[in-house]
Amino acid sequence: MTDDHARVREFFAARAADWDSRFPDDGPAYRAAVAELRLRPGARVLDAGCGTGRALPALRDVVGPSGTVLGVDLTPAMLEAAVRAGRQSHGRLLLADVTRLPVRARTLDAVFGAGLIAHLPDPAENLRELARVVRPEGLLALFHPIGRAALAARQGRQITPDDLRAEDNLRPLLAGSGWRMTSYVDEDARFLALAVRQRP
Ligand SMILES: C[S@@+](CC[C@H](N)C(=O)[O-])C[C@H]1O[C@@H](n2cnc3c(N)ncnc32)[C@H](O)[C@@H]1O
Repeated sequence: MTDDHARVREFFAARAADWDSRFPDDGPAYRAAVAELRLRPGARVLDAGCGTGRALPALRDVVGPSGTVLGVDLTPAMLEAAVRAGRQSHGRLLLADVTRLPVRARTLDAVFGAGLIAHLPDPAENLRELARVVRPEGLLALFHPIGRAALAARQGRQITPDDLRAEDNLRPLLAGSGWRMTSYVDEDARFLALAVRQRP
């Protein structure tokens, strides 16, 4: 395990037990973001950095019983909290690293990543790994239940121009990693960037 991974685990292990109770009203925002992926019944979707699995019920609802929902996270405590919340009934939970996924190339229809990108050690390379597992024309959703400015205010900081999730930074980052950004919303109530897997 790298130092980056150890730091992520330590950070989220300390927050896992009360993660859901800190943000009890986020459910509708997750559902709305998942709906924008327009997944069909039977689709195969990865929740990358699924944490306590807050997106899994919405993902299962859209892909239905014939679909595949896989939740991957690096922090055991987050996955344990997911199990306690009953989220394993909505998808398979896997302790793994999204920067080296144990998933075959081009097998998924979409990746949903909530609150993930800021924690990736090498975003360009790591987004490329997400592209590897998605079929051409498959989708990526990078989501956060509040927008960048609101999140920065909550954390007592200000947004800087080099912010990875700024539209002018994110678009070329995605383009260099196999994705074409198709929509971008950054408002107080949510952050959502959607991208399509480019044909190699
Ligand atoms: C801000 S939390 C968001 C959790 C969940 N997606 C949600 O919206 O509630 C970020 C999550 O990403 C996970 N994570 C960070 N880096 C990861 C990696 N390289 N592989 C897998 N999970 C990772 C953390 O363990 C943590 O659970």
